[in-house]
Parts: sequence; C-alpha cells; structure tokens
Amino acid sequence: MSPTRVATLSEVDLTDPATHLRPDLADFWARQRAERPVAWHPPVGGRPGFWVVSPHGLATEVYRDSARFTSERGNVLATLLHGGDSAGGRMLAVSDGTRHRQIRRELLKSFSPANLASLRTRVREAMRGLVARAVGSGGCDFAVDVAPHIPLTAICDLLDIPVADRDELFANASTALASQEQHADELEATLARNGLLFYFTKLRKRRAAAPAGDDLVGRLVGMTRGPLALTDDELVFNCYSLLLGGDETTRLALIGTVRALAEHPDLWARLRAGDLDRAVFVEELLRWTTPALHAGRVAVTDTVLGDAPVRAGDVVTVWNNSANFDGTEFADPHRLDPDRTPNRHLSFAYGPHFCLGAALARIELVALLDALADLVAEITVTGEPKPIYSTFLSGLHSLPVRFTPAGEGGS
Ligand code: HEM
Repeated sequence: MSPTRVATLSEVDLTDPATHLRPDLADFWARQRAERPVAWHPPVGGRPGFWVVSPHGLATEVYRDSARFTSERGNVLATLLHGGDSAGGRMLAVSDGTRHRQIRRELLKSFSPANLASLRTRVREAMRGLVARAVGSGGCDFAVDVAPHIPLTAICDLLDIPVADRDELFANASTALASQEQHADELEATLARNGLLFYFTKLRKRRAAAPAGDDLVGRLVGMTRGPLALTDDELVFNCYSLLLGGDETTRLALIGTVRALAEHPDLWARLRAGDLDRAVFVEELLRWTTPALHAGRVAVTDTVLGDAPVRAGDVVTVWNNSANFDGTEFADPHRLDPDRTPNRHLSFAYGPHFCLGAALARIELVALLDALADLVAEITVTGEPKPIYSTFLSGLHSLPVRFTPAGEGGS
C-alpha cells in the first residue's frame, strides 16, 4: 500500500471556504507545522499573498505582540485581502494600543462574575426550556431549533436590545459572517452587515437621549460623555462587533458540543453519571470545535517570525484549527479528552485581543451540558450534519437529532 500523499500549501487555497471542509486538512496542517511553520500563501485571484502560521508556539507569539502585528487594518482574511477593515481603529477587535486597552477595560466590567450572575440564571433557564422542548418534540434540528436562541438572547440581554428587534438582528447576523451555501452571494453578506450597522445607528440615537444605564450599550453611551470621548462610529461599530462576536461563534460551539457528545458515548455516559468536571470539559470542547478558524494581523515592521522574513505591511494569519491540534502542545491532540489540563487552546485567541465574551460563552456551554445531562438519556444523530462554508468560522448549520428523555430515576 502506498503512503497517502499529504497536500502542500501550493495545492491548498485557504481563501476558498470549501478548503476548510477537506477531509485531508488535519494532515495538511500537521505537515505545515512540521515543515513550514510560517509559510507564504501565494496570491489568489489578484489578491495579495499572506503568511500562514500553524504551530501553537508561533501563533501565541503573533497574538501576544500587537506592537509587531497589528489588528488595526483588519483581523480576518476577508477584510485584510480586500483593502482592510473600514472599522479599523474604531472597533475593539481592530484597534490597538492605549485606546483599545481603555475601551476594553470599561467593557470588561459588563462581563465580571457579578454582572454575569443574573444572566447565568436566565441562560440556564432558557437552555433547560429549549432542551426540554426538543426532548418532548421527539426530534429536532439542534442547529435550528435550540442553538441559535441562547447566544443571541444572552448578548441582546447584555446590550439591552428590545425583544421585538431580535429576529431581524439574528437573520442579518448569520448572513453577515458565514454561509450555508458553497457559493455564497457576497452582496447578501454586505447588505446584512449594513443592516446591522443601520440598526445600531438608530439604537444609538434612541439611547443617546436617555440616561446611560449599565448595560453594554449604556456603558458605550457613558464613554461618549466621559474622558474617553467615544465617537458615534466607535459606539456603533462596537455594538456590531459584540453582536457578531457573541452570536455565531457560541452557536457553533454549542452545536459542535452536541455532535461531539453523540459521537463519544463513553464521555456522554461519564457526563450523565456526574463523573466529569464540566468546566474542564468545556475547555476541551472549545478546543475540539475551534469555531474561529483563524485571526489575521499586519506586520508593522520588517521582522523574523520562526525563520520567515516577514516584511512591514505583510498580512500574517494565525490558524487556530492548526494550533489547537499541535501535538507539541496537546498530548494525543485528536482525542477528545474531557480531563485535559492544562488546556491552552487558542479558540478565544490569546493576549491583548483575548475574547471579551469568553466568560459568557463558557456559561452557555456549561448550561448546555447541565441541561442535557439532566433531561436526556440518549442523543442520536438522525440526519446528515451540514457544515457552513466560511474561511473564518467552522461548524454546522444543521444537526438533526433525537433526544431520548431521561427517566424518572435519571436513566
Ligand atoms: C465560543 C464562543 C466564542 C469564540 C470561539 C470567540 C472567539 C474569539 C476570538 C478568536 C477572538 C480574537 C480575535 C482576534 O484576535 O483578532 C475574539 C475576540 C472578541 N470576542 Fe469572542 N468568541 C466567542 C464568544 C464571544 C462572545 C459571547 C462575545 C460577546 C458577548 C464575544 C466578543 C468578542 C469581542 C468584543 C472580541 C474583541 C476583543 C478585543 O479585540 O479586545 N465573543 N473572540
């Protein structure tokens, strides 16, 4: 039997969403890490080429150093290769330096344990209700009937968005980032992003007339009046990024969790028996699902990364779905190990841009594990799971399942 040939970067186009669904991708990343830890991706379709960073150690080096690798021109390939992010310098994820730190520090207050305590209770109740309904229905599409409701509701609660506005926001949020179709209509995504910005512009006007309040929008309104003198654009762009950052990624992690449990009956049995530390397991599920495939930066000066000569202005991309399966950091990386500690996964990135909403995402994932363990005896996947097409996000948009109810005695 001849050994399987592993693809190289000259045969793998990372700008094509379909690439990220290739079954041989894990082998490709293993080869990249071993042979070309920082590799040059050739230009595609008239767009510039870019550096591809695959090992865990070099990924953290890039994430940590925003003085050398800035986010100001964008933090995903889609914008970096198309002239940069129009919100650069005006939205947390694509800002750097002192102002980024100051705005981040202020917004982090909304994510403190004290602030999240009541939200945690609401998330747990909502999750239990949705899972109970799914159990009662005899079968559902977890990705459609359960997963979307929790993250959007949680972030809308934090932003204090009126309930009547939420369906429209959700439709636009999912179209803005990923696609269920292989050949997505880019115009549709642009219209959805504009729809979100327009909504937050209207909301800003409404909220500007009222006292600031201590929800996230209130904090941002407060910053427009305080020494930071946040501009209207900064307010609108940050609301937009909180919604997008908080919705789609968490949804994909929730869906991936149910799939992982269905595919690992031994772990499911341990979870139901109360034989797992759920907070530790959640970290492993975040590594396993890696909802954000990559993050992008631009080199500020000529520098050497690994042994690659990076030039000022070059786009540098860090691939979380490679770093999270790097065997030099994670023993037996392709095993879902619910007891893995430490677990320095990069699903929330690392360093100055470490995910602002990580605590909320963890709450939602633990709530899912709790609800499933209490209410469900068996998870059966009843139809073909369908993946999203994206160069940035990874996961499923359809996961038909049947939840068999747990008996009175928890059987
Ligand atoms: C499983 C769920 C989530 C994943 C996988 C995730 C992933 C990430 C990643 C990888 C970054 C860093 C981007 C970069 O370095 O360029 C990030 C940043 C960010 N995330 Fe999340 N996120 C999740 C949930 C959330 C939630 C629930 C919220 C809000 C409620 C949120 C809001 C943000 C914001 C505002 C930033 C920018 C932080 C900064 O630049 O200082 N995320 N997230």
